[in-house]
Amino acid sequence: MTKSVTLRRPDDWHLHLRDGAMLQAVASFSGHFGRAIIMPNLVPPVVTGAQAAAYRDRIRAALAPEMTLRPLMTLYLTETTDPADVLAAHAQGIISAVKLYPAGATTNSASGVRDFDKVRGVLEAMAQAGIPLCFHGEVTDPAVDIFDREAAFIDRVLDPIRRATPGLRVVMEHITTSDGVDYVAGNDDIGATITTHHLVINRNHILAGGIRPHYYCLPVAKRETHRLALRRAATSGDARFFLGTDSAPHPDRAKESACGCAGCFTAPNTMSILAQVFEEEGALDRLEGFTSLHGAAFYRMEPNEDRIRLVRREIPAAYPTHIPAGDETVTVFDPGFPLYWHLEDPA
Ligand code: NCD
Ligand code: ZN
Repeated sequence: MTKSVTLRRPDDWHLHLRDGAMLQAVASFSGHFGRAIIMPNLVPPVVTGAQAAAYRDRIRAALAPEMTLRPLMTLYLTETTDPADVLAAHAQGIISAVKLYPAGATTNSASGVRDFDKVRGVLEAMAQAGIPLCFHGEVTDPAVDIFDREAAFIDRVLDPIRRATPGLRVVMEHITTSDGVDYVAGNDDIGATITTHHLVINRNHILAGGIRPHYYCLPVAKRETHRLALRRAATSGDARFFLGTDSAPHPDRAKESACGCAGCFTAPNTMSILAQVFEEEGALDRLEGFTSLHGAAFYRMEPNEDRIRLVRREIPAAYPTHIPAGDETVTVFDPGFPLYWHLEDPA
């Protein structure tokens, strides 16, 4: 008997679509999602409501009419962000969240926050208005080992900010550790996105037997015990955990370099990979919660009405290894196993 699973249309609560030729090249690969929270780390970053609205319009224009994706925009928090601008952009329905990057933590984060006291006013206004704050949860202190930066962030930044700002609704983005899982599972007013690739790879995939730049992303994949904790969290049915692919395309030239940049491009094959992961965990009945229900509930939105279907076939689904992007190519994330789950859209 053919195995299949029907889900409400999934949402992607953390997505990089870039701009210009890269946006044109990658947007359609997320076209089958319902909604996506669009990251604002363009160069220069998206810091005003007007910039977010213009970027939203460029994204819409890059999507074919039959595609279902609706971009949900975010503002990039800087030390000079005016609380009134954030409130206005939210009240006008332009933005759904604000993104906080510690300065220097990841790709295009130079304009992020150094001194967290400087954003206190914005965070208080957001708490009052119920606007979610999405955190890149890593400290940037060079003295902290890169594999410990998420755990250090929880103690040094996240927990103090949450205590100082009651009611602030936060999303710990792309958690990679059991420390992240435990912190989120033990608290309220907090959610966490988990990426597809962090359910599949650990740090050996990046570093053992040769350095594999297409598995390098931030936060960097950790040791196997952490990957297993993420798989337990994602498949637990706990509504605090939901899908944010963090699909983050870079030109191959920029990744296969002496100083390669961080990011995995997982948009094309994410749903096939997730079906396989949930099947392995005996949790296919919880896939819909993770991809289509929990995130919407956190963002106080209705789940999508329409459905997609995933069907397990004998022959693996064919995904491109690379896609063209202007004069460049972008490598599609290789999970390292055949993908028997085929996406049927509509269901
Ligand atoms: C992201 C990017 O390339 O914009 N990279 C990544 O490795 N995830 C930035 C981010 O989300 O940290
Ligand atoms: Zn990201």
